[in-house]
Amino acid sequence: MPEATEERSLRAADIILQEDLARLILLGNREEISANASHWNLQHIHKAQILDPKDHDRKEFFAQMLFKLRQSKGLRIEQARIMVEDPLYLAVLLIKNGDAEGEVAGANNATGDVLRPAFQIIKTQPGITAVSGAFIMIMPEKTYGDNGLLIFADCAVNPDPSAQELAEIAIATAQTAKNIAGIDPKIAMLSFSTKGSANHPRNDKVIAATQLAKALDPQLKIDGELQADAALVEAIGQKKSPGSPIAGRANVLVFPSLEAGNIAYKLVQRLANAEAIGPVLQGLAAPINDLSRGCSVEDIVNLVAITANQANGI
Ligand code: ACO
Repeated sequence: MPEATEERSLRAADIILQEDLARLILLGNREEISANASHWNLQHIHKAQILDPKDHDRKEFFAQMLFKLRQSKGLRIEQARIMVEDPLYLAVLLIKNGDAEGEVAGANNATGDVLRPAFQIIKTQPGITAVSGAFIMIMPEKTYGDNGLLIFADCAVNPDPSAQELAEIAIATAQTAKNIAGIDPKIAMLSFSTKGSANHPRNDKVIAATQLAKALDPQLKIDGELQADAALVEAIGQKKSPGSPIAGRANVLVFPSLEAGNIAYKLVQRLANAEAIGPVLQGLAAPINDLSRGCSVEDIVNLVAITANQANGI
């Protein structure tokens, strides 16, 4: 946890350590962490390993490691020595070196600043070119999805995914649905048109992505392009896309762009009072997850638990 001096993060760390959900490395100034822990009366912080990015005996080791990894991109050793003092860079270097297995950050940093070091140092899993971010949406009403549980993606990373990237997002989100949410994924590739009801290059991208995803994984239960109502509501789905195994039954919604995905999850979270867990980052070679800066202590605890499960390969 590279934002350990931040109040919600430290409070979450205390709960995680108390409940033994994960072992933690807290990055930040040692004195500040200790002072905050006693100020907020947190009793379990002593169980964590604390590492001060500005003051520890492996700074030069990590600077050399970063320099070697990014030299070909023009990074100089003097720059690397400064960058390893940034907890977001030190976190991914600890993972790369095998000292940590995952990272949760973003309570205090913009998404791009959390993702960039991960993209540069950790890189993607084999066969994946586009990392994406899914939300597990738990609706108070059980009408839609899998008893009120739905997965939305990409809500966090790719502003304008290509058809190939959209296909990869669908496949990665199916894995998240299975492995993290424990549901059998039925994927709707969303657009503003259902099965050719509108003719536009943006729909063509979604149709192409659906075909590519099927070719990449013939077992995938996927259909597109579908409008959101056709994806979710049985009667509308069967009317607009008769015979579709997905229309009206979808529990995984893949959005055509980041505007759509990000706006959709925030609207559903606020207007329908849904619990939004994530974003769960998919496709990175190690489990690294980004929080919204509006997150609660509970959000952080949940995401650390998910990250620990990902690290265990669950
Ligand atoms: N998957 C994998 N790697 C990627 C991806 C991706 N989707 N995008 C970029 N990269 C890699 C590049 O290949 C590059 O690697 P290299 O330096 O080793 O060659 C590295 O990341 C940096 O690439 P840039 O193109 O310079 O990326 P940039 O830093 O400009 O942007 C970023 C990447 C930060 C993720 C950008 O796409 C972004 O800002 N996305 C939107 C994030 C956001 O604001 N989300 C909404 C809020 S999230 C929420 O509300 C929960």
